[in-house]
Amino acid sequence: MGPLEVLMETGDQEPEEMPVGLMGLYGGGLALRPPVVFANFVSSLDGVVDIPGTGRVGRLLSGDSPGDRFVMGLLRASADAVLIGAGTLRASPGSTWLPEQACPEQAAGFLELRRRKGLSPSPRVVVASARGELDPAHPGLRGALVVTGEAGGARLPRELDAEVVHVPDGPAGLDLRAVLRQLVARGFRTILSEAGPSLTGQLVAQGLLGELFLTLSPLLAGWPAGGGRRGLLGETELLPGLSVGGELVSVRRQGAHLFLRYRLRRGSGLSDGFSGEPSPA
Ligand SMILES: NC(=O)c1ccc[n+]([C@@H]2O[C@H](COP(=O)([O-])OP(=O)(O)OC[C@H]3O[C@@H](n4cnc5c(N)ncnc54)[C@H](OP(=O)(O)O)[C@@H]3O)[C@@H](O)[C@H]2O)c1
Repeated sequence: MGPLEVLMETGDQEPEEMPVGLMGLYGGGLALRPPVVFANFVSSLDGVVDIPGTGRVGRLLSGDSPGDRFVMGLLRASADAVLIGAGTLRASPGSTWLPEQACPEQAAGFLELRRRKGLSPSPRVVVASARGELDPAHPGLRGALVVTGEAGGARLPRELDAEVVHVPDGPAGLDLRAVLRQLVARGFRTILSEAGPSLTGQLVAQGLLGELFLTLSPLLAGWPAGGGRRGLLGETELLPGLSVGGELVSVRRQGAHLFLRYRLRRGSGLSDGFSGEPSPA
């Protein structure tokens, strides 16, 4: 894969210890500001991020873009933990959410990046499930952290090879602040969300998402009536009641794909969530 072309980058990107090969491909460092929850999505040009009933929807929407796979791997490699909702787990039967699965050709560089950053060799996969109905054979659950509520905990399969943490239920699933507090308590300070629209909508509405990395694919997907396709936030309503916007941090390009990075703002101030410590219980 050739390097991403940097079209725009704000000046506050601190230099960091990224291996030269990765730095060359990305065109600079990431300079995340922990504690932070940052999301990564690929969207069709017309705003579709989910097509139900289609396997590997990310690859479909991106047109299997090598740049998208690289950024996905780089973000995973920079994270203490990768958070997904059970919906994403169920829709992706073969996924492990590990950096090398997204971009095997950069596996050695990802490992070296983690070593330089003082991170464990692999990010911890965290699965949020309110219902607790999970397939214990899913490869993404091996050694994962499963966060669930009381009812979900009672439904978890006994054979699950994962650590289980209980949090209270919230208005639309689990209490996400409590989920993040659990992750912070484990020393996770850079949390990549690869959750789908349901969980992402809740994170954004509650001011818990600090950054958004968005790959804008040149492919058009269409919105057939009744097709169940969804945008980034699913059914979550923001406007007109709640204004959440993004400060553009960087724009990169590979061919016709754009790689956008936004720091999210809610109302007049920076989103309170993981731009700072989550508020106490
Ligand atoms: N284009 C992209 O970049 C991209 C990225 C990620 C995902 N996706 C696609 O999105 C689809 C999955 O979407 P999704 O919305 O179902 O996935 P999701 O947001 O990852 O998972 C939703 C599930 O998370 C659990 N959950 C726990 N607490 C929650 C809370 N407070 N709010 C919301 N959910 C909570 C629930 O699990 P229980 O049902 O167990 O209670 C809920 O059903 C898949 O097709 C996937 O491929 C696309």
